[in-house]
Amino acid sequence: MLKGLLFDLDGVLTDSAKYHLQAWGELAKKLNITLPESANDELRGRSRLDSLNVILKFGNQQYYSEQQKKEFMDTKNRIYLHLIRAMTPQDILPGITDLLADAQGAGLRMAIASASRNAPIILNQLGIADLFAGVVDPATLIHGKPDPEIYERAQQLLHLRATEVTAFEDAVVGVQAIKGAGQFAVGIGNKHVLRQADYVVPTTGDLRLSDIIANFDSRNN
Ligand code: BG6
Ligand code: MG
Repeated sequence: MLKGLLFDLDGVLTDSAKYHLQAWGELAKKLNITLPESANDELRGRSRLDSLNVILKFGNQQYYSEQQKKEFMDTKNRIYLHLIRAMTPQDILPGITDLLADAQGAGLRMAIASASRNAPIILNQLGIADLFAGVVDPATLIHGKPDPEIYERAQQLLHLRATEVTAFEDAVVGVQAIKGAGQFAVGIGNKHVLRQADYVVPTTGDLRLSDIIANFDSRNN
């Protein structure tokens, strides 16, 4: 029986993925690196350091020291924090407010499994922080997505089993992490890209709790 929902944040609850991409784009420009069109899908869901390494690989500049990489990440984060400062509840993606309300009404427990260290700031700005019983602190993780660690941790925060939760992702590495944790994966985006997900909707506006429960029940029975 479905008892809990685990949510990625960027690209699922709000469109902050576009700000991550913009901030990385500005850093890449400073380094004379041109990001390919595939950058958006490749960076989605990856930790700060993993994202930087992907960008440096695009530019064949994998020779920087730890200290230089830290400075690059700090620069990107300053740009990102500037971009997200004006976010409000208006920035919650379509369908999400209803989904969260329906889940709360159905007594489902909810947690956040975002790789972003900025997740608590954004949840506060969106005005939805109180809805979640747990938020995984990515600073405490050994491995980033696609490793299942973050989803296993989120499930533990809710004291639930893998077979009792559904998790929501817009990133390929995120769906891989959910499946690695043995959980039911709802993908939001292109079904050919997110083909490992158990159930895929094109946009958050297509999410309905009743459809998700029906699909979850048919997979788990
Ligand atoms: C993920 C985003 O949620 O968080 C990635 O999809 C981002 O794009 C990662 O790199 C880490 O975020 P932050 O805010 O800690 O740099
Ligand atoms: Mg995401």
